[in-house]
Amino acid sequence: MLFKQQALLRQKLLVLGSLAIGSLLYLVARVGSLDRLQPLCPIDGRFGPHGQEEIPLRALQFKRGLLHEFRKGNATKEQIRLHNLLPKAIIIGVRKGGTRALLEMLNLHPAVVKASQEIHFFDNDENYAKGIEWYRKKMPFSYPHQITIEKSPAYFITEEVPERIYKMNSSIKLLIIVREPTTRAISDYTQVLEGKERKNKTYYKFEKLAIDPNTCEVNTKYKAVRTSIYTKHLERWLKYFPIEQFHIVDGDRLIAEPLPELQLVEKFLNLPPRISQYNLYFNATRGFYCLRFNIVFNKCLAGSKGRIHPEVDTSVITKLRKFFHPFNQKFYQITGRTFNWP
Ligand code: A3P
Repeated sequence: MLFKQQALLRQKLLVLGSLAIGSLLYLVARVGSLDRLQPLCPIDGRFGPHGQEEIPLRALQFKRGLLHEFRKGNATKEQIRLHNLLPKAIIIGVRKGGTRALLEMLNLHPAVVKASQEIHFFDNDENYAKGIEWYRKKMPFSYPHQITIEKSPAYFITEEVPERIYKMNSSIKLLIIVREPTTRAISDYTQVLEGKERKNKTYYKFEKLAIDPNTCEVNTKYKAVRTSIYTKHLERWLKYFPIEQFHIVDGDRLIAEPLPELQLVEKFLNLPPRISQYNLYFNATRGFYCLRFNIVFNKCLAGSKGRIHPEVDTSVITKLRKFFHPFNQKFYQITGRTFNWP
């Protein structure tokens, strides 16, 4: 009888213990993610059922704290207002350079909030016509000490964008993430190919698109090739912004060794160094670095990042590399950053 009671007690203690550990883990996860404003401010989730803006709970608590400080005379009226501020920095490209990985990794920094979706404000005439207030409202809520970053890789190659961004903020910081141009072009092709396959459509081979069959030369009309001529696009931007306002991120190194690249960006954005090796761990299954926010909350990028590229004829690769070579040299010269591209 006594033995049975003891067993029952042990069982109860076990259940209670598991409940306590579970709650503790949940709390750690909540606190860890609540400390960062971004997960609470998803762009789509900001509007309530009746269309009014919903301020996230953590933001309200923060605001209440500020009100208290205001009454004590320690906070300004301006600080009390929670804003969706215009971005202080934009990742303008390059498509398939690693723009998503860069944005997500920068978002590990407590002073950074990201616009989760690509806004396409400056490259899309219809969106641009909606005005800057429309754009601002697409931004996440931020605390006064935070900066907002958005990424829309189409900005880099779209003619009208530099002037439009200049009109919004002539001193904005611009981030460009690049990869070896031929690899980037193949990655670009792979994304389009996957889209076609999803719709059960057939598509040309990369070789056929990248090389003009009449001249046997590189086909500069092919968008994936044109996008990889980085210097051509950058030169257009330089008509509006001085080179000091750009920071070039090595997309190939961000894949293999992300931390030093992120530290360079922190410096460029005048942010205190906060992203550490703890925040980045290599996931062998994914074959990429993933993000760790705290002991419970971590994530890898979606499966659409890191696709397997189709095999491309080596003579086409050689031809493309030779074609990009002089443009790359010019790019190194302008940016002051040299890459080991062939
Ligand atoms: P591939 O799919 O060709 O491998 P973008 O976000 O600009 O579309 O860039 C996609 C590329 O980001 C991927 O190209 C992938 O190589 C790269 N990338 C860099 N870091 C990554 C990471 N940690 N996880 C997944 N992909 C990453």
